[in-house]
This record gives sequence, structure tokens and C-alpha cells, in this order.
Amino acid sequence: MKMVFLGPPGAGKGTIAARAKEAYGIVHISTGDLFRAAIKNETELGKKVKAILAAGDLVPDSVTIEMVRQRIAQPDCEKGFILDGFPRTVAQADALTGMTGLDAVVNFVVPKEVVVRRLSGRRMCPSTGRIYHIEFGPPKVEGIDDETGEPLIQRPDDREETIVNRLEVYDRSTAPLIDYYRQKGLIVDIDGSGSPQHVFELMDAALKAL
Ligand code: AP5
Ligand code: MG
Repeated sequence: MKMVFLGPPGAGKGTIAARAKEAYGIVHISTGDLFRAAIKNETELGKKVKAILAAGDLVPDSVTIEMVRQRIAQPDCEKGFILDGFPRTVAQADALTGMTGLDAVVNFVVPKEVVVRRLSGRRMCPSTGRIYHIEFGPPKVEGIDDETGEPLIQRPDDREETIVNRLEVYDRSTAPLIDYYRQKGLIVDIDGSGSPQHVFELMDAALKAL
């Protein structure tokens, strides 16, 4: 199964992808996670994109498209993948069409007030990227990753000013992809406002009905 997860920041793309990857035995490719790993490892790519992510702006299409092209050419993607956070512009979507076919584009629909609450309470394990929420999905011990024992961090782009910009960037550049993929008959709309388990079950049923 080859899928794209679409939805605003905080819609739960990463949270649902973590479950779907286990359930379907496919690869989870988050462009945001790839950029954050590059920043952490201080690679050339990381140096180039650090300020862009901190501001909540988009990394240039050329850079992002090339990174995804290389990633989905890896043998582990043959059985299928979830692209989480890519494409985010029409140019990226056109480039993706040239790289691979898709079975579905899952569009997670979540009201703005909910995504803001989710983002401001999100915490993350710095080495694995595992996601928590201080209210909706807390770790067993406050501030500590359940498996690695590392202190959890807040993503630098989860500060309030940056959240506002990310939501604007989403409306301007990424939301048009909903119509783009609807015209291709690929969109599966999912109400993303319930619990992660409920959202996963809604998606699983919708995908099985395709
Ligand atoms: P990226 O990492 O993709 O961030 P994003 O799209 O803003 O999405 P998020 O990761 O913030 O949200 P999510 O939907 O994954 O939600 P999550 O599951 O964590 O991109 C970061 C940056 O990288 C971009 O701003 C850009 O600079 C750059 N970039 C990335 N891709 C790019 C591209 N293609 N082109 C150009 N630039 C690119 O959930 C959020 C919180 O809510 C968590 O705390 C979670 O525990 C909680 N939660 C989730 N689901 C539920 C639920 N059902 N109920 C209750 N709580 C929930
Ligand atoms: Mg994410």
C-alpha cells in the first residue's frame, strides 16, 4: 500500500502513521523527521534547513523532492510506504506523480482549535521522534521517554508564534492538494478529531473498503 497522509500541523499524521506502519508492515517516511534528523546530526542539509523549520516555513521544493526521491528508491519501500508531510505543494505533488503511483491520500480533518491544543502540548523523544502529549498521551513518567529514558523535548516550531505561521503556510500552500487529489479520485477523508485508536479504526475501515 502506497499512501500519502495529508492534514494540517497537529492533525495526527505522525501519531496515526506510527500505528499504521506496524499494522500494515510498511515504511513511515516523515519529511519533517528527516529534516530534524539532519539538523540534529549537523549535516549540510541540516544547516541549510534549520532556520526554515524554526520559522515554520517550507523548505524549497527542489531540496525536498530530491530527498524524497532518494528515500522512496530504497528497497524497504517496495512493499509500500506512508508519506507523512509530503507533498506539501502542487510542485511536490507533480514530482511525486512522476516517481510513483499511489493507492490513497488520507486527508485528516481536524478543527483549528484542536490542532493548536495538540501542538502546544506535544512533547517528543529527541532520538527516536516518538510523540507524546502532556494531556492526551502522556509518558509513563512525566517528561521522560517510555523506552529510551531520555528527557522529552518540545519541538522549536511548537511555540505559539510559529504555530500560527505553520497553519497559514498550510492553508496557502498545502490545502489546495485536497482538491488536487480529489480530482484524481484518491482522497479518503477521515475525521481526525477522536482518539488515536478511533481515528486509526476509521481509516483502516475506509482503506479496506477501497
Ligand atoms: P512536519 O514535521 O511534517 O510537521 P507538520 O506537518 O507541521 O505536522 P506535525 O508533525 O506538527 O503534526 P502531525 O500531524 O504529525 O501531528 P502529531 O501526530 O505529531 O514538518 C515540520 C517542518 O518541516 C515544516 O514546517 C517545514 O519547515 C519542513 N517540511 C516538512 N515537510 C516538508 C515538505 N514536504 N516541503 C517543505 N518543507 C517541509 O500530533 C500532534 C500532537 O497531538 C501530539 O502531541 C500527539 O500526541 C497529539 N495527538 C495526535 N493525535 C491525537 C488524537 N487523535 N487525539 C489526541 N491527541 C492527539
Ligand atoms: Mg508529524
